[in-house]
Order: sequence, then structure tokens, then C-alpha cells
Amino acid sequence: MRLSVIGCGYLGAVHAAAMASIGHDVVGIDVDERKIASLSKGEAPFFEPGLPEILSEGIASGRLRFSTDMADAHGADVHFVGVGTPQQKDGYAADLTYVNAAIDGVIPYLRAGDLVAGKSTVPVGTAADLAARVSPTGATLVWNPEFLREGFAVKDTVDPDRLVAGVPSGEEGERAADILRQVYHPAIAKQTPFIVTDYATAELVKVAANAFLATKISFINAMAEIAEVTGADVTQLADAIGHDARIGRRFLGAGIGFGGGCLPKDIRAFSARAEELGRGESVGFLREVDAINLRRRDRAVELVVGAFGGSVFKKNITVLGAAFKPHSDDVRDSPALDVAVKLHGLGAWVTITDPEAIENARRIHPQLNYVAERDEALRGADGVILVTEWDEYRRDLSPEHAATLATGRVVVDGRNGLDAAAWRAAGWTYYGMGRP
Ligand code: UDX
Repeated sequence: MRLSVIGCGYLGAVHAAAMASIGHDVVGIDVDERKIASLSKGEAPFFEPGLPEILSEGIASGRLRFSTDMADAHGADVHFVGVGTPQQKDGYAADLTYVNAAIDGVIPYLRAGDLVAGKSTVPVGTAADLAARVSPTGATLVWNPEFLREGFAVKDTVDPDRLVAGVPSGEEGERAADILRQVYHPAIAKQTPFIVTDYATAELVKVAANAFLATKISFINAMAEIAEVTGADVTQLADAIGHDARIGRRFLGAGIGFGGGCLPKDIRAFSARAEELGRGESVGFLREVDAINLRRRDRAVELVVGAFGGSVFKKNITVLGAAFKPHSDDVRDSPALDVAVKLHGLGAWVTITDPEAIENARRIHPQLNYVAERDEALRGADGVILVTEWDEYRRDLSPEHAATLATGRVVVDGRNGLDAAAWRAAGWTYYGMGRP
């Protein structure tokens, strides 16, 4: 099929390349000329495992190209919209500027029978408004939310755990759902659940999923807060409750909490939308989820400060990680970077290392000291804090080796990713999050 993908950020670039990899003829469109230039050369503008390979394969096959000209969308059967919906500068609601611009931009190039498939995360009610603008062209709007995780984006796009299509009622909707089934034919052939809903349900599925995940993380972090005043160990608690299949162990990792380009802004936008709908109280708990999450960053800083008897002034602190999670170079709302900034603000000499995220981190926090090489960053440290659980730090860094580099013996494990017993045995004073 011929597809266009409007917006070539994390979501759109991966979607375009993944769709080409399953045999479609795809044009990716974005207003950012630098991004398009880099994608056209087969270079991923951000770190995402597997993306460079499918980009170059797609371009070499002739099935994938990129453009800054919306006119190139003309002739595609399905137009995916994957632009960003960031948090508004002066509030919690989502900023729909880019979605509106994408829809207005593509409308002149739509043919009767085309599908416009929204993938961006939007406030419930948006699709119905956009459908009214698209309908006069004879094209159909569907809402097809995306659940990809950064770091696993290619796999999640090609082989998702479910597909959701919000469609209009009647025959038009049935036809639209059939077209999407054709687009996602390899996943459909593997019996991937394909759930057809109305617009509002499809929009809500996405925000509800992210709200649930954020709540799960804040739940275990709330338990960490209780563990801290009782001497309990939240990691054992998570293991024990996680054995209950109804609860499950995933996303019960207590630590410095969630960040990134999705969970924080999505729960805030959900709260804002619920308020608009007169149902603010229904998701009032999301304010608490947000508050717990932000408190954990302060707690990590408190642990470092406490370890140095109340002040980190002029202490050399090595921060392991800057990305909001491993397998990503994304520092948007990164708890890791936030902890580093807070320590810097308290007068510590902070050195940050990360396998992928240094350039992005430096762009927004040029005042901090970045060292690419892990061991170099550890040299002369009075204290070490793990904030992004990359394998390089969690699995591959032995406490004995770290001790040959650092001057001090304080380690704060902001992700509960280290083997506490091994670090203690090697002479370190180990502090976990919600652990004795
Ligand atoms: C998330 C959703 O998982 C995905 O389905 C949606 O499409 C976009 O938002 P992503 O932002 O890539 O994906 O990150 P995710 O893997 O969900 O992690 C989010 C944050 O939670 C990270 O900062 C991570 O470190 C943190 N986290 C995750 C925890 O603190 N504890 C956990 O147990 C799991």
C-alpha cells in the first residue's frame, strides 16, 4: 500500500521505516529540514536500536523516502499523523498546535476514500473535531493509537501486543477498519488482537494505558516511602506481590520514578481534559501519582546529601546516566538529569556519564560536566549515584573495579539496580531507594 507518515519524530520516523520494512511504499514528511536530510541518508536522528538498519534497507529498496513537502502525501492510501502533543507552556493540557497543522496541511492533498490515521496521543474528543474537518474531502479519519516504548520501538511497531482502531460508525467505519487490517497484515496474520472502537474509546485507551503504568510505578514508589520509615525492603515487597498474577512484577521497579516524553505529560493532559469534562475528581489520583513521582527525585538527592553528613558542597559526585531510561538517548523530563541538576545546585561537583544521551543532555544543561567514558567519569569520585540502569552500570560495573577508580565509597542506587550485597562486600556504603 502507499502510505504517508506526517511527523518524523520518535513515533513517525519509526512508523515510516517499520511500515516500509513490512512491504509498504512510504513517504515520511516533516517540516524539520535537518531531520529529513538525515533520514533521507538513512541516518536516524536519535538513538533507537534497530532503526538505522530498517531505515537504510527501506531507502535502498526504494520503498521509503522522506520529504519536507506535504504535496508528497498526495496519492497515499493512508496518511498517518504522528506529530508531537507536548505539554502546554502555561498549563497541564496538551498543545495541539502540531496536530492541527498536520491536518490542515494534508487536507488539500486528500482524495475521496483516503484514510487519515491519527497516532498522536490526544485529549479525548479531538478525533471527533478533526473528523469534521477531514470529512468534506471524502476521506475518513480513524484513530489508531501507538503504544511503542522507546528502546523497543521497532519491535513494538512491527509486532505490537494489540492494535486499536477508533472508527466512525456504519459502513464507512467498517471499510476503514479493513484498510487498517491490510496495513498491519503481518501482525493480523499472527492473530494480534485488533480492537475496533469509536473515536473516544480509542483516544482513551492510550491515555488510560499510560495512566495505569504511571500509577503502578508511583504505587511501588509510595510503598518505598513507607519502607523507608519502617526498615522494610521495597524490592522484596515488589517480588512478593509481583508473584500474584493479578498484580505482576513488571513496572514495579521502585526508584527515582518515571520520566520521558510520554508518561509525565500524558497524565497531566489527562487530568486537564478530565477537569474540562467536569470529571476532574475521577482522575484526581493522577495528581498524587505525579507528586509521588517527583518526590522520589528529591529523596535520591537527600540520600546523597545524607551520605555526606548533610552537605555535598565541593564533593565530586559521579552520576551514572542521563537518559530517562536505558536503551534511549531521550532526556525529556528525565529524572536522572533532574537529580544531577539538583546536586549541582547544592554545590556538588557533578560529573555525568551516559552511553547515548550526553549530547542531548548537554544541549539543555550546558552548565554540567559530561564525560563520555564511564571509568573516566568515576575517577576521583567521592560518591556515585546510579540514575539510569544501563547494563554498563548495573551489570558490567563490578564494585571492586569501581573502587579502584573512585576516591570515596558512597554509592546511591537510584534504580535499585545494583547488587547491594556485592557492593557492601567490596567496601562501599550502599543506599537503595526504599531499602534498609
Ligand atoms: C511509555 C509506555 O510504556 C508506552 O506504551 C507508550 O507508548 C509511551 O510511554 P516510554 O516512555 O518509552 O513508553 O517508557 P517506559 O518504558 O514506559 O518507561 C517510562 C519511565 O518509567 C522511565 O523513566 C522508566 O525508567 C520508568 N520506570 C519504568 C520505573 O521507574 N519503574 C519501572 O518499574 C518501570
